Amino acid sequence: MADRSPALSYRQWQYELSQAFAAADIDNSMLDARVLVTAVNRMTDTQLAVHGDDIVPPAQSHQLRLWRDARLAGAPVSRLIGHREFYGLDFKINHHVLDPRPDSETLVDAVLAQKPEARSVLDLGTGSGCLIVSILHHLPNACGVAVDKSSAALHVARLNAHRLSVRSRLALRQGHWFAALGSNLGDKPPQFDVIVSNPPYIASHEIATLKVNVRDHDPRLALDGGADGLRDYRHIIAKAGAYLKPAGGLYFEIGHQQADDVVALMQRSGYEKIHVIRDLAGLDRLVAAVKKK
Ligand SMILES: C[S@@+](CC[C@H](N)C(=O)[O-])C[C@H]1O[C@@H](n2cnc3c(N)ncnc32)[C@H](O)[C@@H]1O
Repeated sequence: MADRSPALSYRQWQYELSQAFAAADIDNSMLDARVLVTAVNRMTDTQLAVHGDDIVPPAQSHQLRLWRDARLAGAPVSRLIGHREFYGLDFKINHHVLDPRPDSETLVDAVLAQKPEARSVLDLGTGSGCLIVSILHHLPNACGVAVDKSSAALHVARLNAHRLSVRSRLALRQGHWFAALGSNLGDKPPQFDVIVSNPPYIASHEIATLKVNVRDHDPRLALDGGADGLRDYRHIIAKAGAYLKPAGGLYFEIGHQQADDVVALMQRSGYEKIHVIRDLAGLDRLVAAVKKK
């Protein structure tokens, strides 16, 4: 059936969307409306200010209606427009990768502050590549390796590395944690100045209780950390020592109630300078440590 709704300008669409989102109790309703309206016409905020009274063409109105309905059904805006700003950089995302979280910027901050001299960085579970690409972007003399079990996720990370001009310094490897690096028995494993990881850390039985924007839109492989959420920390901590240079740093993002458990795992594996770092909301967000010299 032909659409008989009146043609609206970009500014009117922005208003309509913000009203619909506010009525549905969506946080940041005005921001979401602005992001969708600028994205539909690939405009900057400044261009929206100049062209706000232009009439939106029918194809774009159709797209905005689809996005409005999906947003009202719980889809995050970043999933709808296919990209997300992280550490001041624009990352492409799709349904194969975790939507990068602002909290994860804490890990990039910590590595840049504590290991500015790092020349080699390994990212385990790279997803969109947001951690390693941001780190390499700010450490122009460093090289990195990004690992993911999902080849579809690695495809996104490769694209982001290319778009953000670090592709020539990043190798991408598909597989299960360190096994992705290859394991010729007898060979010395590659050793890194820094290993970072934001592994899946939600306990399997809690996944059904997550908010719809996470449960229905982030890949299960990015979320499910086994029966107690600690499965992948155990595995990585047990093996990381062999892949770190002496005094190399291990940086984990954690769920905000997992600090004690992850600290205990690191203590048992003989790391030193183990410390917990909080995010901007004051919640425990990282556990970092150093391999003994
Ligand atoms: C929580 S997401 C983190 C993504 C990205 N680093 C970030 O911070 O947004 C965890 C990632 O680990 C990957 N992953 C899960 N299990 C893995 C495994 N056994 N080996 C390698 N990667 C794995 C997932 O595909 C996912 O991309």
